[in-house]
Amino acid sequence: MPEISFLLNGEAVRIADAGATVTLLDWLREDRGLTGTKEGCNEGDCGACTVMVTDADGARALNACILFLPQLHGKAVRTVEGVASPDGALHPVQSAMVEHHGSQCGFCTPGFIVSMATAHLNGRRDHDDQLAGNLCRCTGYAPIIRAAEAAASAPVPDWMRDVPPEAEASSDEACFLPATADALAAWYADHPDGTLIAGATDVGLWVTKGLAELSPVAFLGGISELKEITVSEGEIRIGAGATMAALMPVLAEHHPSYAELARRYGSEQVRQAATIGGNIANGSPIGDNPPALIALGAMLHLRKGATRRALPMEAFFLEYGKQDRALGEFVEAISIPRQPDRLKCYKLSKRFDQDISAVCGCFSITVEGGQVTGARVAFGGMAGIPKRATAVENALIGAAWTEETVRAAQAQFAEDFQPLTDMRASAAYRLESAQNMLLRYFLEDQGTAAHVLEVAP
Ligand SMILES: Cc1cc2nc3c(=O)[nH]c(=O)nc-3n(C[C@H](O)[C@H](O)[C@H](O)COP(=O)(O)OP(=O)(O)OC[C@H]3O[C@@H](n4cnc5c(N)ncnc54)[C@H](O)[C@@H]3O)c2cc1C
Ligand code: FES
Ligand code: FES
Repeated sequence: MPEISFLLNGEAVRIADAGATVTLLDWLREDRGLTGTKEGCNEGDCGACTVMVTDADGARALNACILFLPQLHGKAVRTVEGVASPDGALHPVQSAMVEHHGSQCGFCTPGFIVSMATAHLNGRRDHDDQLAGNLCRCTGYAPIIRAAEAAASAPVPDWMRDVPPEAEASSDEACFLPATADALAAWYADHPDGTLIAGATDVGLWVTKGLAELSPVAFLGGISELKEITVSEGEIRIGAGATMAALMPVLAEHHPSYAELARRYGSEQVRQAATIGGNIANGSPIGDNPPALIALGAMLHLRKGATRRALPMEAFFLEYGKQDRALGEFVEAISIPRQPDRLKCYKLSKRFDQDISAVCGCFSITVEGGQVTGARVAFGGMAGIPKRATAVENALIGAAWTEETVRAAQAQFAEDFQPLTDMRASAAYRLESAQNMLLRYFLEDQGTAAHVLEVAP
């Protein structure tokens, strides 16, 4: 196992034999006795375990329960114990929580404090979004949001500005921490049965809930070229290791509805860890990126050793649990062709924030002179894979862009999809919602407010 080093509340820590899948939460509580960081759900859902992690890209709030120790190599970690000044003076968000009565039982409070202190450091004032991943069951959000607002303009305390340490490269084969895509490609070709770990928002749960033992593993977080996002004349190219948080500003500029979908993707802590590559490679039928990317005509770029290939995003998903990816092959990038923005993404989930989609419908329909000249419609949650609605598309293309056409095309959803009934939604509900999303797209295109938060009473 590799030797790793990082800063913990300002002090250097070196672990000689860091277990590949030991979570930061377990290590903090059991090895260091730092029990301020709480365990609520142990699956990334509640934020009780939030810590602040600083690296070259800045400071971010992450869930320690699904963060493995090797992911911290060369970074700085600040737990709730490190938020007050070394001489005990409270951080402005702590004082504000006291003044505004932001805590009752207090179990959630350490996680809130770390999320609030990180948002405060980053100058974020979108408090609802920043705190959507922290669950509080007794105080209620109003006093907590009031506290965040009250602290927002206070200066950032010096001790919060961590400087991540220099870290030596590790060459451990069983727990590999590559710095380049070439090194990863070589390792994966030699260990095709190994597990890649990017943000660990899926893999973390295999360990904490599935009790999986993984070996060998490679962590992708140290490969900066996999995190690159470049916008050129012809395409938006997104490295597989780009996090959802890093992607959001680019999406907001080019495809705002996709950015809005991303805003409801997990929580701040999840978006700061979750990568777009992991969301595609896991092959989930309810991942939020694939339908949006399919509707945009995106290409997936795969690499095995020195061999690269590209395929349309929809062709990657073969059947439930099966993707067009060879052993030892990894996702290198995604490219979206530049195009006038016609994309709308509709996510339907039981909760507005921090929930997995029951149905996610993405539409990009081009209209010229009142006629539909192009249609790409893709859904998650409607089949065993993220899937295009080709019968619906065919019913639209060439027809007049009218409500009559849309109503006729709605019937074609039953040709494209035979959805399942599960705990998230019934088959009939899924089908009807998908049909209604097409109507919503049409109505919004005609300038009618159809979003539940936009419709006036
Ligand atoms: C609380 C919570 C909320 C969530 N909410 C949402 C949501 O709203 N919408 C949604 O779509 N998902 C959601 N997810 C699921 C998850 O966050 C995403 O699927 C995420 O994008 C996975 O990325 P990751 O980097 O964390 O992947 P990891 O967990 O690191 O890996 C996932 C899988 O992909 C493989 N992999 C990773 N990178 C590559 C690569 N470059 N090439 C090949 N294989 C690779 C891994 O081996 C593994 O099989 C949520 C998860 C949690 C815990
Ligand atoms: S313990 Fe709930 S998010 Fe970590
Ligand atoms: S204060 Fe009790 S859960 Fe928030």
